Amino acid sequence: QPRRSIVAGNWKLNPATLTEATTLLRLLKANFENHRDASSATEVVVFPPFPFLGVAVQELQGTGIQVGCQTIGTHEQGAFTGEVAPSMIQSMGVTYVMLGHSERRTLFGESDTAVNNKLQLCLAQRGLQVILCVGETLQEYETNLLASVVDVQLKKALVGVSSQDVLERIVVAYEPVWAIGTGKTATPSQAQAAHEAVRATLTALYGSHVAQGVRIQYGGSVTPDNIDALMAQPDVDGALVGGASLTADSFTRIVDGGI
Ligand code: G3H
Repeated sequence: QPRRSIVAGNWKLNPATLTEATTLLRLLKANFENHRDASSATEVVVFPPFPFLGVAVQELQGTGIQVGCQTIGTHEQGAFTGEVAPSMIQSMGVTYVMLGHSERRTLFGESDTAVNNKLQLCLAQRGLQVILCVGETLQEYETNLLASVVDVQLKKALVGVSSQDVLERIVVAYEPVWAIGTGKTATPSQAQAAHEAVRATLTALYGSHVAQGVRIQYGGSVTPDNIDALMAQPDVDGALVGGASLTADSFTRIVDGGI
């Protein structure tokens, strides 16, 4: 059975105001009302910052575009000042949580154990799916450590996760850290080789039926110009888009390329 492609837009800490966020959402809505075929062939998710999740769910109603959040807290309820729980965002209509993005790992010290804890917490909430990000640094890439780094990140993140959850509720995003926001996209063959490594780890953990069913996105300087060549690779099932998701037209063109 072919894997349905999935394109996600990670807005990161953008835009600066609610007004700008609403404008971007309305432009997306206008584009996707005219792109019904594209939006049904490809699953589409946007990941705005937390304060804009509510307006995103409202504005995107009826477009088929889902809304996700970029991280989550480590507890479900209680005296944890400043935290956000999976049940809260799920009750707002958010359907995806992104976990383990390299910016969370490197800038905010998020460990593999924390990623695993958050993943378990999200899976305990029916209706939530997860984009689990993995990827190597430039130094690791240059010293041939890509496969082992990604293998360890996946194995630690997936401790205790059932094969059914992996198959039905988890998307893996492979993002080489050296390609994020740098304009240096991995070549299609580099992306394919990395995605094969991800699938090999999933096969070792869960067997080939599950591994063949899991969708693997590529992330790192994806643009409307390079999406087609990336998507032509057999193990590239979609894209996790940063900078180019902040303009409605470029994001829409990437989704069109992701069919
Ligand atoms: O989550 C998205 C990635 O970090 C890629 O960001 O497309 O700006 O390189 P970018």
